[in-house]
Amino acid sequence: MSEEAVAAVAAVSARKEWAIDMRLRECHNFHDFRRLARRRLPRPIFDYIDGAADDEVTHRRNTASFERCDLVPNVLRGVETADLSVTVLGQKLALPVYCSPTALQRLFHHEGERAVAAAAARHGTMFGVSSLGTVSLEELRKAHDTPQVYQFYFHKDRGLNRAMLQRAKGAGVEVMMLTVDSITGGNRERDLRTGFSIPFRLTLAGMLQFAIKPMWGINYLTQAGFKLPQLEEHVDMSGGALSIGRYFTEMLDPSMNWTDVASMVQEWNGQFCLKGIMSVIDAKRATEIGCTGVVVSNHGGRQLDGSRASFDQLAEIVDAVGDRIDVLMDGGIQRGSHVLKALSVGAKAVGLGRYYLYPLAAAGRPGVERALDLIRAEIERDMKLMGCTSIAHLSRDNLRFR
Ligand SMILES: Cc1cc2nc3c(=O)[nH]c(=O)nc-3n(C[C@H](O)[C@H](O)[C@H](O)COP(=O)(O)O)c2cc1C
Repeated sequence: MSEEAVAAVAAVSARKEWAIDMRLRECHNFHDFRRLARRRLPRPIFDYIDGAADDEVTHRRNTASFERCDLVPNVLRGVETADLSVTVLGQKLALPVYCSPTALQRLFHHEGERAVAAAAARHGTMFGVSSLGTVSLEELRKAHDTPQVYQFYFHKDRGLNRAMLQRAKGAGVEVMMLTVDSITGGNRERDLRTGFSIPFRLTLAGMLQFAIKPMWGINYLTQAGFKLPQLEEHVDMSGGALSIGRYFTEMLDPSMNWTDVASMVQEWNGQFCLKGIMSVIDAKRATEIGCTGVVVSNHGGRQLDGSRASFDQLAEIVDAVGDRIDVLMDGGIQRGSHVLKALSVGAKAVGLGRYYLYPLAAAGRPGVERALDLIRAEIERDMKLMGCTSIAHLSRDNLRFR
């Protein structure tokens, strides 16, 4: 390349970085990132992230439930420093939050999972790779030292399940997380309206939405192609083999039961967590079959609408099994104070979903890093304002429910 060409490329990339930097300076919280993501993404993709099932009641309640809980601070406790680290599922994390596994990140930003994993690693926390992830679990495992979760869907083909467990073990995945609330797909009406599916089957309205965001299209076509490396042989983006919709209906096993999961737990023989536990009876069952953790979660309101908010259900589950296994939760987290409330009730760590997806869509890795910087600062500030110097000091004594 000539010197002029190198200088031109450097100028373009400097301008790009400057633009990202300027964009990020406008972002101080979840809502700012959400607004920016909405501006950047074609509507069908934004709605895939933002939307939830049916009337989206559970999705709204997930965050609203934190507002029915008040913090009662203590003062004069000497809080020069605060230790935010936790140990959960055998992993030491520098932060009490982790990036929950989410699908299709390449669609939101070309850096996809690479950006999220790098940002999580910079903050010393755990990152979840989805079965429907767009970067291979092996690549991500090699790239960073921080613990990795692999999110698993249970297939009819038991040989495939076994092969996937072995693949994750071989890659050095620390935590296996089986999603149990997605036995069938949720009714996401925003996606039906736009025709969002993989491969795309856009409605006319959906196509128009892509046409008015040409930058997303240019970026999508000029960067590395879309792949589903965890399922490469089973799902085909070109529409030839299997769409994601058909993957859920044809390959996943709705007859999955406790006996199946018990043998998976034995086979994994390590940290094994069920994601999507909402009832006490199920949490107890998870303990009995040897799980080391459960995530109290309703999938961000994307599956069963009308399901109780995860935060509302957390105390019952902590009281029932919290002395035997690690109870985690996710759903609706937008602020450090939400994290503090969940930890005070007894969660060992808290999962973030849309909280990091909007920043990813808005600005790639620097976006996710900034979002994690912000939540870290909020948790630390709020701990000090609560009079706590370590997560272990948080307790229900400092909460009041309306
Ligand atoms: C766009 C999107 C994709 C998701 N994909 C998956 C997935 O592949 N597997 C899974 O177990 N959960 C998935 N989830 C659920 C998240 O792991 C998490 O439970 C949820 O986002 C938490 O709610 P919040 O977004 O309100 O924080 C997804 C969530 C979103 C928003």
